[in-house]
Amino acid sequence: MIIELLRNRYSVRKFQDKKIPDEILRNLLEAGRLSPSGGNEQPWLFGVVTDGDLIKEIAGAAYGQEWIAGAPLLIILCIRIIEDDRGAREIQKKRFPDHADAIDAMDKDLYTALNLEEHQTKIAGAHMALVALEHGIGSTWVSHFEVKKVAELLKLSNQYVPSEILVLGYPAEESTCAPRKELQELIFYDTAD
Ligand SMILES: Cc1cc2nc3c(=O)[nH]c(=O)nc-3n(C[C@H](O)[C@H](O)[C@H](O)COP(=O)(O)O)c2cc1C
Repeated sequence: MIIELLRNRYSVRKFQDKKIPDEILRNLLEAGRLSPSGGNEQPWLFGVVTDGDLIKEIAGAAYGQEWIAGAPLLIILCIRIIEDDRGAREIQKKRFPDHADAIDAMDKDLYTALNLEEHQTKIAGAHMALVALEHGIGSTWVSHFEVKKVAELLKLSNQYVPSEILVLGYPAEESTCAPRKELQELIFYDTAD
């Protein structure tokens, strides 16, 4: 049951020196491929990194998170840049009418950087992490990295930006789940007052 997998999940940052079988990797990627996206645009690329040297370099671009270098697999979730001329500004102005003037005034590069739909890749990555869990493979999300440097290491075209790194591998040690807020602190029914 998915809920049982989630109850026992924790971020894994120490990995066995054991490769993830190709068949399982294919299933992880398939989980990403099947994920929903706004307008079914599927605005992503999934970078599969297993080369030890490249993993080390990516770890170096993650502000000293050396533990990443011990993982056998990184999946780099990359999001496609939404171009202004596709009407993205108009959509954001409709979502946030109080800020319409400021949105109009924003310089194109800044607008592009702030309007990245990073949330879209999170769904695909979450599905991958769940399938991994089903196979006893642990993972940790990593958002804290130098985006430009990782893009260069991956030789990404300037149409895509790396949004998250999913670090994957078989756990080297057991850990415990981090505490969570109680459900009653998190939910409301009908209205929030
Ligand atoms: C969007 C996101 C970004 C994260 N970035 C990092 C990161 O850069 N480095 C890291 O060690 N953990 C990172 N984490 C893992 C969180 O620290 C972890 O999920 C949280 O502390 C809860 O612990 P748990 O995953 O063991 O339940 C990130 C998690 C999420 C969801």
